[in-house]
Amino acid sequence: RNTPVTVAVTGGAGQIAYGLLFRIASGAMLGPDTPVRLRLLEIPAAVASLEGVAMELEDGAFPLLDSIDISDDPWVGFAGANVALLVGARPRTAGMERSDLLAANGPIFTEQGQAINASAADDVKVLVVGNPANTNAFIAMSNAPDVPAERFSAMTRLDHNRAIAQLAKKTGAPAADIARVTIWGNHSATQYPDVGHATIAGRPALELVDEAWLRDDFVPTVQQRGTAIIQARGASSAASAASAAIDHIHDWVLGTPEGDWTSMAVPSDGSYGVPEGLISSFPVTCADGGYTIVPDLSLDDFSRARLTATVAELEQERDAVVDLGFAKRG
Ligand code: NAI
Repeated sequence: RNTPVTVAVTGGAGQIAYGLLFRIASGAMLGPDTPVRLRLLEIPAAVASLEGVAMELEDGAFPLLDSIDISDDPWVGFAGANVALLVGARPRTAGMERSDLLAANGPIFTEQGQAINASAADDVKVLVVGNPANTNAFIAMSNAPDVPAERFSAMTRLDHNRAIAQLAKKTGAPAADIARVTIWGNHSATQYPDVGHATIAGRPALELVDEAWLRDDFVPTVQQRGTAIIQARGASSAASAASAAIDHIHDWVLGTPEGDWTSMAVPSDGSYGVPEGLISSFPVTCADGGYTIVPDLSLDDFSRARLTATVAELEQERDAVVDLGFAKRG
């Protein structure tokens, strides 16, 4: 048995958490040798419901689940956390503009960033799932000056997995044969799913699918998949989002497979012309608990234009939250 890892999860009574917590407890996220101490966070109105989730977690009798604590106070919930999954957020309700959403989430991610800064473990890794994920992560990072910036990430792994799934469906290849897919930019409809360097059983994907399908079908399908799920299910993606969060932390902690990479939204180091500090999705390899942005990939004109568009949206969101006083630029 390894040393237990303390995992804090916000939005513990929500839909995604209901798919996420049981898999964390089972060892799917951190491996079969690592016990977990769960810290579940909610807003006061949802604490009673969260107690019910905690009862179900107990009833799983998970051998790796050392403890479960509940709190509505981020200053308590993040204390000593090695992994912080920021899933809870203010949802977009009818009549709300994107700017209203940024304003509603600013105070939440400001306080959570401050609490992580003050009380999380020195090795804390943060994943923001709650939307607008990239900009919420930017706010949390800006409010945690003592935590290395590269520990803050936002989730584009669901988009990455969706891109693999679409390629698998189109070509008949198993998902396991597909490597080196990339999501660039924002977790929003402007994201750019890129298969320019992807391989299918070792062959370039571009030899197996045509350009028209990529441009007219694949890219919009991946970009609009969240909306399609809402239309079909009557609720937003939850189990698949939970699964992607498991994958994101799993690979960050335990490494990406040899010869492959994954997509994570992380603070830019200026790679690919993305302004430094912006939390943007990149292709990354993970090893030894850290990640490296894959360098020097060629981008054709189409890809370059898509990247520029999604980064422009991220800059607008950053400017909006800087103007609202939730973060400093860069
Ligand atoms: P949900 O509404 O079912 O659950 C969210 C939970 O968060 C609620 O129980 C709420 O009380 C709680 N919460 C709100 N503010 C909180 C705070 N300050 N501290 C602690 N808990 C708080 O929503 P669901 O379906 O679980 O989704 C959660 C978030 O994930 C949403 O923002 C959604 O848009 C986002 N999402 C992101 C995806 C991604 O790929 N990055 C994919 C799917 C959803």
